Parts: sequence; structure tokens; C-alpha cells
Amino acid sequence: MPKVKVLPHPKYCLDGTAFDVQAGTTVLDALLEHGIELEHACEKSCACSTCHLYIREGFDSLSEISDQEDDFLEKAWGLEPDSRLSCQSVIGDEDLVIEIPKYTLNQVGEKE
Ligand code: FES
Repeated sequence: MPKVKVLPHPKYCLDGTAFDVQAGTTVLDALLEHGIELEHACEKSCACSTCHLYIREGFDSLSEISDQEDDFLEKAWGLEPDSRLSCQSVIGDEDLVIEIPKYTLNQVGEKE
């Protein structure tokens, strides 16, 4: 069973956390099941970028990025090469290390 490690984040999990997950679930569902209430403004329909995460380890074990995910990812705050939309990323057999970005586009928008 793959293990998911979440790096510390000031809003979602101060000390970080780690848990086992069933392969075949999405990264977002795994986080929500473990009490990390990551934003998911479009209700997991690949139509926003609020569920954006960095996959620091295990990136290649996730399901492939669709064209639609790619389009919305480009709108994410702080895009990096290991960025994914968590609601579209299905967990494979490898352990993952996840970092939650500092902001989402929604939060950045609120400040302006
Ligand atoms: S929740 Fe909107 S794309 Fe994931």
C-alpha cells in the first residue's frame, strides 16, 4: 500500500502528516479522507486549479496528465514542473511526497 507524506503547511497541516492509501484513489480524495481540507472549487471536475499540489516524490507513478488538466494547471499559482491537479491524479504503486502550495489562485485573488 503506498504511503503519502504531506510536508508541513501553515494552514492545512502545521507539522505535516503521513498515511497509507489505496492505489487507485485520487490524491485529493486521499487528503480529504485524512482531514486535509484542500480547496476543490469545481468539485473535482477538472475545471479550476484550486486543488493544485506539488508532487515532490513519486510524480511518475501517478496517472497521466490529460490535456484538460494541463490547461487548468497553467492557471495555477506557483506552477512548477512537478505540479498536478490533485483531483485528477490517481495514485499508483509508489510512495508520494506532497507539498501544498502556499496559495491558490482564489486566495491570491482575494488579496488584490
Ligand atoms: S477541484 Fe477543480 S480541478 Fe481539481
